[in-house]
Amino acid sequence: MNDNHRKKKDEKAEGGVTRRHFLTGAGIGAVGLAAGAPAVEGATEQDAANLIAAGEAVPVTLRINGTRQRLLVEPRWSLAYILREKLLLTGTKLGCDRGECGACTVLEDGVPRYSCMTLALEAEDREITTLEGLLEGEELGAVQRAFEEKDALQCGYCTPGQVMAVEGLLRSNPDPTLEEIRTGVSGNLCRCGTYPNIFKAARLAADLKRGKGGGS
Ligand code: FES
Ligand code: FES
Repeated sequence: MNDNHRKKKDEKAEGGVTRRHFLTGAGIGAVGLAAGAPAVEGATEQDAANLIAAGEAVPVTLRINGTRQRLLVEPRWSLAYILREKLLLTGTKLGCDRGECGACTVLEDGVPRYSCMTLALEAEDREITTLEGLLEGEELGAVQRAFEEKDALQCGYCTPGQVMAVEGLLRSNPDPTLEEIRTGVSGNLCRCGTYPNIFKAARLAADLKRGKGGGS
């Protein structure tokens, strides 16, 4: 189980719903209360006011790919939304938008994380790395080069997330076994089934990063 899966499970264990689902439900509840029709048993008008206030934009400072970004965000906005729609970092993909596919994977303090399940506010003071942040100047980074060399993609939609998962794996484990690679990308689905080449690319990337060039 990787960190994304563990986080999702923990959030559900705490309250029976994810934070995302809570906020969505809260927004619906606020509308109901504002219209004078309490949607939640026991909820007060003050509850409604608080929930409506939660929809107002608040300032947040994010560190994305080594650059500080000062933004006004609504508390309900996900990190994936901010990256794609506000910062135009479209290397981060949205697939399921519900923590199931891994297409939106970014690194948070070096650890893979689903950006669709991360509120932008939660990312404050964290170092966020996206696919664009792996570039070495104008050149592809080691993991990106390895995916290209091993032909580890077909449609390519899952590829940014796979690359970020491998990058995160290699930062914590520079010389992973095949089993560790399989576990490291287990939170990233590939509908085209390119897993064998993804595993080979991860192995090559490990060698490239360790200066071994990779011969297989
Ligand atoms: S888009 Fe985030 S997990 Fe699928
Ligand atoms: S290459 Fe198509 S979903 Fe992975």
